[in-house]
Amino acid sequence: MRAITASHIQTRQQPKSAKKICRQRKNNENLRKTSRKTAPAKDADYHQLVARATNDAVRDWDLASRGLTWPQGLDTLLGYSPGKSDQTIAFWQRQIHGADRSRTAASIRDAIKSKAEYWSGEYRFRHAKGHYLQLLERALIVRDINGRPVRFIGVLMDVTARKQLHDQLSNSQKMEAFGQLAGGVAHDFNNFLTAILGYSDLLVAEVEGRGTGAKYLSEIRSAAGRAASLTKQLLTFSRREPLEPRVLEVNKLIHDLERSMLRLLGENISVLCELMPEKKHIKVDPDQFTQIIINLAVNARDAMPAGGTLVLKTEAISTNGKVPAELPLGKYVGISVIDNGMGMTDDVKEHLFEPFFTTKDDRHGSGLGLATCYGIVRQSGGHISVESELGKGTAVHICLPEVVAPPPAPYRKRPKLPNGTETILVVEDDISVRHVAVRTLRMLGYNVLEAFRADEAKRLIQCNIVNLVVTDVVLPDMSGCDFADWTRNNSPSTQILLTSGYLPEITLDSPASDLPFLSKPFDPEQLAETVRASLDGVVVS
Ligand SMILES: Nc1ncnc2c1ncn2[C@@H]1O[C@H](COP(=O)(O)OP(=O)(O)OP(=O)(O)O)[C@@H](O)[C@H]1O
Ligand SMILES: [Mg+2]
Repeated sequence: MRAITASHIQTRQQPKSAKKICRQRKNNENLRKTSRKTAPAKDADYHQLVARATNDAVRDWDLASRGLTWPQGLDTLLGYSPGKSDQTIAFWQRQIHGADRSRTAASIRDAIKSKAEYWSGEYRFRHAKGHYLQLLERALIVRDINGRPVRFIGVLMDVTARKQLHDQLSNSQKMEAFGQLAGGVAHDFNNFLTAILGYSDLLVAEVEGRGTGAKYLSEIRSAAGRAASLTKQLLTFSRREPLEPRVLEVNKLIHDLERSMLRLLGENISVLCELMPEKKHIKVDPDQFTQIIINLAVNARDAMPAGGTLVLKTEAISTNGKVPAELPLGKYVGISVIDNGMGMTDDVKEHLFEPFFTTKDDRHGSGLGLATCYGIVRQSGGHISVESELGKGTAVHICLPEVVAPPPAPYRKRPKLPNGTETILVVEDDISVRHVAVRTLRMLGYNVLEAFRADEAKRLIQCNIVNLVVTDVVLPDMSGCDFADWTRNNSPSTQILLTSGYLPEITLDSPASDLPFLSKPFDPEQLAETVRASLDGVVVS
């Protein structure tokens, strides 16, 4: 057979003169005849050839004797040199990944018991070198004339690469979808926050900053402010923006994180804060710093499955103290995350900061936690080290340069907001946002009209002299950008200010992108200033 195939290839490579084509046809005809004649006689050879062409492995399992033969691929695909140990079904069972074994066995058992003629399934199978292959097996269940199963002949195909590609794709699609979802949630959240911030500011003005009411209001305002920074983080994540370092007070950073830490760690882990008495400052990106502490806390949690204590410690490290040799002399702040969990072996300690080094399974660890911490700390001019003892616990020490505290913010008397008497039309479908904007603008002396849809707004523009339209980018019946275009065409003297809970680049890829833009959530001061600037024709986007 092999000789025939070779001559066939040779014929195809020759230049095709009429004579040669003739000879080739004859050869092919001979091949067909030979195959027809020889196939039944050399049945086993022929089938082996077909099996070889697929590059798969073939197993033939005799159900009565539990004997197993491997007509093909035991060595080439699975890496085992044929011997005695692979001649019973126990060999196949032993090589299946523990997590797939009972599922696969049960499914094959069910197929054999039923009247099924075929079975197919996927499982992980250990290669002779120790790694696992993802195999797709398609099998024929051979039965005797009474329907009793006698043989199970399976073709095993290596689909490892295909599965890895598929997993990678679904992972990146998941991240993409998460980004979109985060952006959408942040947008809706910004509408609520605009209302909360706006109304609390209006109330602060009403109670003139006096009494318990004013205290409660300032609490509401600062909570809303924190929520606004969270939504900003979500928007940043969905855009994957590089972040910026700021001068921050260390104890406050840790203290703010303590509460979210409790939720993250669960009830059987207690959190202790041992904070230095002085107020020390460092220059870090607050989001990245949060990420470091969360990564370390999650590692500590994983190391204490039965519960334990997590200590967050801060300390001042001066020149004559414990400054790591790698850092120039100077003043530093130490931040340590300490657990009394299982600790690490020397081998783990050696590879700890390597990207993708993990001792956890696929679902629980990507091995990027400490590598990320290392990168951030180094970028911030600091040092990270680990002390750990098997069975006793682990301490991760971070050392960051101390910076001088920023001057205290000067006491700011509430500035008088810019005002006016022009006519402004507020177009916004979210009732709370619309009301707070309308009230703020009326309080500032403007003549304010309101609409929640574009068609209503168009009617008002046609009947009134509107100096400025403040419109959301997303309206129920039309996009805010199209509505802005309509306004420019039908009432050229009317100024336009766009608002949105999305970031400007995301929403404004249209002809309206040169217009002033106010992002939500906005407070009365930002609204007053942007409105005045838009009316005066100053670019504020
Ligand atoms: N506090 C700790 N106690 C014991 N072992 C730890 C501790 N922190 C890290 N390790 C070990 O170091 C390895 C690497 O940690 P790293 O945070 O980089 O990755 P991961 O936690 O495995 O995965 P990821 O953080 O990406 O989810 C861990 O798998 C674990 O074996
Ligand atoms: Mg981790």
